[in-house]
Amino acid sequence: MARVIAFVNQKGGVGKTTNTVNLAAIAGQSLGNRSGQSQVLVVSTDPQGSAVWWSDRVDEEQLPFDFHQCHDKPEDLSRLKMLEQYEYVFVDSPGNIEDEKILSATLDSTDEVVVPLPPEAMAYPPTKRTIEQVLEPKGIPYRILITDWDPRDGTVDLEQTQEYVDNKDWPRLRTVVRHYKIHSRAAAEGLVCTQYPRGRIALEAREDFFRLAMELGIGGRPLPRQTRTQSAAKGRV
Ligand SMILES: Nc1ncnc2c1ncn2[C@@H]1O[C@H](COP(=O)(O)OP(=O)(O)O)[C@@H](O)[C@H]1O
Ligand SMILES: [Mg+2]
Repeated sequence: MARVIAFVNQKGGVGKTTNTVNLAAIAGQSLGNRSGQSQVLVVSTDPQGSAVWWSDRVDEEQLPFDFHQCHDKPEDLSRLKMLEQYEYVFVDSPGNIEDEKILSATLDSTDEVVVPLPPEAMAYPPTKRTIEQVLEPKGIPYRILITDWDPRDGTVDLEQTQEYVDNKDWPRLRTVVRHYKIHSRAAAEGLVCTQYPRGRIALEAREDFFRLAMELGIGGRPLPRQTRTQSAAKGRV
């Protein structure tokens, strides 16, 4: 059964789509294919969101993950979770309150939630509402991801946001996804971070998604214990 991670925040423009597709790209590339098929699936439950817009621009053949639009029947998500092929399903969700039904159905088939939050006070109230009125009542594990932080702006806004989150006792990921022009430019071109052209900036920008993947424990798995015992036994012969 796949592990389902949804990116949720009822505020639009906080980076749900950007983080979903780029984390999925890193996961897809790291895990590689099994029997010729990707082990990572991205599902967009956003009826009018940028993932739809974005998917029109991408060459799906070139993506390191499969992509599925699933907004009219979000309950189908529970079926996707059962698909043997996928290790991970990353869900991009809609960004406004009118879509609460879709969001609710999405959350019913989600193992954990990442709540992207840019370091700006304007984003606090909708984030608070999402957590207190949607995530906590459902008892879904969630973590805040501070995202789209521009280091050129200094650390004041970042620290303020970290403090805001910590004072609320909301679990927070250590990884901070920085603002890079290359992310928004790539999105407009239908590219994910594993397809960025070579270069220092691209490497730096991509690094944040590697960190995020590590922190979320995405990627390799330890060798099953049985296999280790078996190889030890072999070694004694
Ligand atoms: N880390 C980032 N660096 C640069 N631009 C970003 C970053 N994260 C998001 N953006 C840009 O901000 C806008 C909103 O992001 P998006 O992922 O579409 O948000 P949402 O899905 O929550 O509505 C997009 O134009 C996107 O390219
Ligand atoms: Mg979006």
